[in-house]
Amino acid sequence: YRTLDDADLAKKRVLVRVDLNVPMESGRVTDGTRIRAILPTIRAITEKGGKAVLLSHFGRPKGRDESQSLAPLVEALSAELGRSVAFASDCIGAEAKDAVERLACGEVIVLENTRFHAGEEKNAPDFVEALASLGDVYVNDSFSTAHRSHASTEGLAHKLPAFAGRSMQGELDALTKALEAPQRPVLAVVGGAKVSTKLELLGNLVAKVDILVIGGGMANTFLAAQGKTVGKSLCEHDLLGTAREILDKAKAANCEIVLPVDAVVAKEFKANAPHRTVSVDEVGDDEMILDAGPRTAALVSDKLKAARTVVWNGPFGAFELTPFDATTVAVAQEVARLTQAGKLLSVAGGGDTVAALNHARAAAGFSYVSTAGGAFLEWLEGKALPGVEALKR
Ligand code: 3PG
Repeated sequence: YRTLDDADLAKKRVLVRVDLNVPMESGRVTDGTRIRAILPTIRAITEKGGKAVLLSHFGRPKGRDESQSLAPLVEALSAELGRSVAFASDCIGAEAKDAVERLACGEVIVLENTRFHAGEEKNAPDFVEALASLGDVYVNDSFSTAHRSHASTEGLAHKLPAFAGRSMQGELDALTKALEAPQRPVLAVVGGAKVSTKLELLGNLVAKVDILVIGGGMANTFLAAQGKTVGKSLCEHDLLGTAREILDKAKAANCEIVLPVDAVVAKEFKANAPHRTVSVDEVGDDEMILDAGPRTAALVSDKLKAARTVVWNGPFGAFELTPFDATTVAVAQEVARLTQAGKLLSVAGGGDTVAALNHARAAAGFSYVSTAGGAFLEWLEGKALPGVEALKR
């Protein structure tokens, strides 16, 4: 693929796919890692005298939904960039066109959430065309959405001269260097809340890694598949069969599966909710699992001692709510400690994961932290990523 070094951007309208899908709470950005990751690309474009026109999705809206607007992100981006950033409340049509037209060379604008239009996820030709009419060249700086073949992540690369941005380039280089031929045993930690989309992927991962630690909401589906009561916990009850198949696949592939042995349970999903720590066999019907317990943290620490490479996506519990962050924090700190002691190579990825590692003050201790979650895991599975493939053409 071609990079920004190969691009003449002077006076050009540069459509840049970035990932502003960042963790937010009451209108404030709680982790700015993805914002900081795109600064080098934005600066390269403005320094070359181009107009930086930023495209991104936010959340998973079904059509226009002001609660999923990118508008609140503009201030955070502007603060990180140290300059003003314009905003247009639509990513296509007259308003977007006028706003891009008004933009001077060397200036930056964010266009509203691409997922407000159904054509984005469908990669619909007319929507790709409408986006393409706003730019002269296309830069993809969003490795974290490269597993999506959407209009802004894939379609545009076929319509305009296409280049990889600095962050995209850096992610691909770093992941290839760290994980192309990893030292074994490889231990993967997969947790978090996006259960249904990741279950499939676990099935492929068991063929790639030696030990798979399953945590977070994902683990509940596996516990339920083993006949345990998970009460009101996050759980995909219609995917128990899939979970069982994954366990069988793991056995056949000689991949050891590690599931939580204890859990911190509460009756409400809120910080400091009254809670108790129980074995995974003792979860009440009216309780939900909000974290793995201390015996699980110790078990995972023990498994880490045997590993040479660790990949991590997804927290063990509701780490944003005290005290349900304990196991995520304990394991993250242990991985960082072993990495710094030269015992492990560790790579973590994912919006929530990065936020969790920052919360645990462990991110700097990892060998590499990717901005990508789903894309990182698909890359790890060995799948071709449509966003990257399109850049190679
Ligand atoms: C992510 O957060 O992993 C990316 O922004 C992709 O988001 P998506 O899973 O909603 O496509």
